[in-house]
Order: sequence, then structure tokens, then C-alpha cells
Amino acid sequence: MCGIMGYTGDRDAKDILIGGLKKLEYRGYDSAGIALAADGTIEIFKDEGKVAVLEKQLDQAMEISKTGIGHTRWATHGVPCKKNAHPHRAGRVVLVHNGIIENEKELRAELDRQPISDTDTEIAAILLDTLYNGDPLTAIFQAIKRLEGSYALGILFEDQPQTLYAVRKDSPLIVGRGNGENFIASDIPALLEHTRQYYLLNEGEVAVLTKERITFFTADGQQVNKEVLTAEQDLQSAEKGGYAHFMAKEIHEQPEAVQATVSRYYKDHTLFPGEEFNIQGTIRIVACGSAYHAGLLGKYAIEKWARIPVTAEIASEFRYNDPILSKEDLIIVISQSGETADSVAALRLAKARGVPTLAIVNVWGSTLAREADRVFYTAAGPEISVATTKAYTCQAVLLYLLALKLAENELACEKIAALPSLLERVLEQGEQCRALAQKFKQAHRLFFIGRGQDHALACEGSLKLKEISYIHSEAYAAGELKHGTISLIEEGTPVIALLTDRERFSKTLSNVKEVKARGATVLAVTYENADLAGVADDILTLPPCSDLEAPMAGAVLLQLFAYYTAVERGNDVDQPRNLAKSVTVE
Ligand code: AGP
Repeated sequence: MCGIMGYTGDRDAKDILIGGLKKLEYRGYDSAGIALAADGTIEIFKDEGKVAVLEKQLDQAMEISKTGIGHTRWATHGVPCKKNAHPHRAGRVVLVHNGIIENEKELRAELDRQPISDTDTEIAAILLDTLYNGDPLTAIFQAIKRLEGSYALGILFEDQPQTLYAVRKDSPLIVGRGNGENFIASDIPALLEHTRQYYLLNEGEVAVLTKERITFFTADGQQVNKEVLTAEQDLQSAEKGGYAHFMAKEIHEQPEAVQATVSRYYKDHTLFPGEEFNIQGTIRIVACGSAYHAGLLGKYAIEKWARIPVTAEIASEFRYNDPILSKEDLIIVISQSGETADSVAALRLAKARGVPTLAIVNVWGSTLAREADRVFYTAAGPEISVATTKAYTCQAVLLYLLALKLAENELACEKIAALPSLLERVLEQGEQCRALAQKFKQAHRLFFIGRGQDHALACEGSLKLKEISYIHSEAYAAGELKHGTISLIEEGTPVIALLTDRERFSKTLSNVKEVKARGATVLAVTYENADLAGVADDILTLPPCSDLEAPMAGAVLLQLFAYYTAVERGNDVDQPRNLAKSVTVE
């Protein structure tokens, strides 16, 4: 939800922090700040707005500071403004935080020190300063025992100007190892221009960084050694690669991403080599947002081919529904970031009940990846744009491969294996999608309708459009419209009808005729030579493909439509208002 960057070494910390924060702005960007340490003092610079706004203030910054922390925020407690921006200071302690301190009220009452901000973060600084008697580690270990909730912390102590402390519980934080310099960051893109060597912090672990040394401790103070990892991504993959937006780049990376994902789980005509499944109960798919929509496709595919009962549920509902689970079930949690708070909580609930868990994630070493019994990685590569595209498609592909594995139907895999070339052809329809975006860009509301897998596709197409174009849209099961919602259809109401499912085509076409008869403007997304009986005002045709590949191909078309609509409306495509790439708070 927020981005953290820290540095200690021999270079100017200010420039390194700002550069890192810019790579992390996809995690939240309503305010930003840095703290620079030098002998005996720590200077804080912070303001509402993006990192670029903060950067303008730094001319007055101390000449050279070689240690510092930085933060770019997505507000959870306290409106976006300067006083609520991080870093926060309390006495000799300055820190940045990603997460939520859930017992902040009790701590405020107990510590009885007047806070300056409206944030929960500040209470962590007050607690640390209260506990600090000259030994930072002792204060940190004592504070960990008192703090409840989720927190990734970067901490400076005023009388320790060359040392940086990091703590991680439930919110992501990694430690970068450089040559005579060391780093902390919320995510790998912030490190790539400096180093590809990094350590993962496990739950409750503490790291102590000087320019020469990094030391790790468990929450109870035991020093531990950790394996250094090497980031696979290069800097290029964290840049836009010549596209106007990360989203455009990531839409066009889908053939390669799908290829990499398929290759990982379909080798020598064998699906998931070495993996066995023995599911006697129900598969419970749990996720949020687009990952949930991929789960809807997974439900459709597994039930259709493997005839195993599947439910697909929103994680924030599942975790509080006291779900009825069986040890014969399999919980599949889907998440691009692997850090979504509700999805992590759902996984932990299942584990606490002794139910087998499988995570489908895109980020190596993420919380879900490390806590699930099994993990299948989508190979989409780093996804920077807040609106997911390639990770969603790879999730859907992986679920379809899993459905075929459970159905022991290796034959259909050839179609999935041919998906990359199909998606390449879909991407050639960009100009058509741009033209349609120009036609619909002024719409005030819009409906997506479909049946079966087309309904799942409608849900994702609607979310994609909403979250980046800010046009209100609603996905509806086509057969359900007449039970009330069709009253909203009037002259000129735009309706995007998904008609890629041949089995349900005629039924959905009837529903399209119903909305057309009431004045709707219809954009049909369908397969070649479909007989639309003249009811569509516009048609987006998929390249030749079967029903099996249609959802992924259709998704790419709807991503392009949403992207160009947002561009036409002049929106911040990669960092839409109010959103963040990974919702690590509930
Ligand atoms: C997708 O475009 C949205 N940004 C959002 O719905 C996202 O899918 C959701 O927050 C889940 O994120 P995750 O996949 O990282 O768990």
C-alpha cells in the first residue's frame, strides 16, 4: 500500500531515496517524504503529492547525508496531507511505515504523548522513543512485543546516524546488498539500478544495516543468517520499454508472459510435472479484484472439465464468513502481489483449520508464496501499472492448465500452448479498440453482459474500464438483466456484450436483442462469422480460436479498450486516483 526506501553507504542518500521512491510510486502516491541523517541530526522533508513535489523542496537539504529513509504513501489513517506524510518523528526516533497499527488507540492512551499527526504510524515512533535507552535493538524488540497489526518499518535513531533498522510483519520489505552500501525497499524495482542482490525479511524479523554490514535477528532477538537472492528482473523490465505507459507495455508483454507461464507448467506434453492432486472435497478459490475474476474463470473451467465442485469467493467476505471447510477441500488463493491483506488472512484462516492451501502468485517470495502449502508462480514478470493485465491473463491460463490437469485432459493443452500467437494477433486490433474508445469515452455508465465464462470476462472488462477511465460500469450475467436492471437501459445506453461462448451464444444473443429493443448501443465481442442478426452497432471479433482460449483473447481486447478510453480521458493510466497496486491493509 505504501512504498519504503532506505539507504546507508558513501553516496548522497537524498538522490538514492528519491530515485527509489519513484520506482515505488505504483504502491501509493498521495504524499511522500524523506529523512536524512548526519552527525547528531535527522532532517525530514515531506509533503502532500507525488515524489516530484517533494523533490522540489530538497535544494535546502543538508549537503551530504549518507543515510536516510523515504516513503511514498497510500493513506489509511489520516487524510493525505503534509503532517500525515511519512517519515514521522518522536524524540530521537524517525521512521516510515507500511501497514496498519491495529492497537494504536490503546497505545496512544497508555503512552499519553501528544501526537502531531492523525496517523497510526506516529504511535510506533512514540513507542520506540519511549522504550529507547541508547540501545536501538532492545527498544525494537520490546516494541515488537507491543505493536499489533501489520508493519514494515524503516527506522533511524538520531544518535546512530550511520545505521538503518528495518522490521517486517505482514507488510513486504526487502534488504538490498550493495558494494560498501546497503538498502531497504518495499519491492525490487527500487533496488535494481543499485544492486540485484537482496534478502527477504521473514515475519517479525529485524535487520540492522550499516554500509559495511547487514545483521538479521528474529523477533525474539536471535541472530540469524539468511540466503542472499538475486533479482531476475533487470532495470529495463522495471521501465516502460518505449511505451507511453507501463500498462501499455504490460498489455503487449502478454504473449511472452503467457508463454513463460505455460512453459513452466506444461513440459514435454505433461501438465504440472511431478505435481499430484487428490481432491476429495471442494476447491475453494479465494481472491480480490481481478484475481477474483480470474478465479471465476477457474471455477468455470475446473467444473466444466474436471467436474470437481468449485467455489470462487471474495477474500474480504470469505475471511469473516466463518466458512464451512473440510480437510478434504483445497483452498486456492490467487494474488498478483502475494501481499493482499484479505487474501493473506484467508490463507491463514484455511491453514488454521488444517485445510490444504495452494497460492497462485506473481511475486517470488511474497507472503502468500511463503505461507501456502504449495505455490504456483505466474511468470508475468514485474507488473508496475496499478491495473493488472498480464498477471490476470497468466492467472487465468494457469487455472485453465490446472483444470485440464485435474481432468487429465492433456489434449486440449495444445490450444493453451498456442495462446501466445493468438494473443499476438489480438494485439494487432489495437487501433480498432482505440477507435471504439473514442466513441465511448464520454459515456457516463456502461454495461458489460455475458454468460458462463463470458460473465467472468464481463466482470474483468468492467473493472478494467472503471478503475482507469473512471466511467461507471457494471458487469451483469446476461440472463439476469430482465430481473430488474434492464430498467436502466434507455436510448443510447452503451452495452458491451460478450458472445465468445458458442454454447451459450443464442441465449446471450436473445438478451442482447432485449437491450437493443430498449435503445441500447451495443458493442459485441465475439468470434468470427458469428450471426449477430444485425443487433450490434459495433463488433470486435476475436481471431479464430476455440471457447477455451476465448476468455484470454477477449480479456486482451477489453484491456486495450479500457486503456485507450483512459488515455482519451487524459487520466493517469498507471496510477489511477484512489488506488494502489497492492492492498496490504484490509
Ligand atoms: C486490478 O486491476 C486491481 N488493481 C485490483 O483489483 C487487484 O486485482 C486486487 O487488488 C488484487 O490484487 P492482488 O492480485 O495483488 O492480490
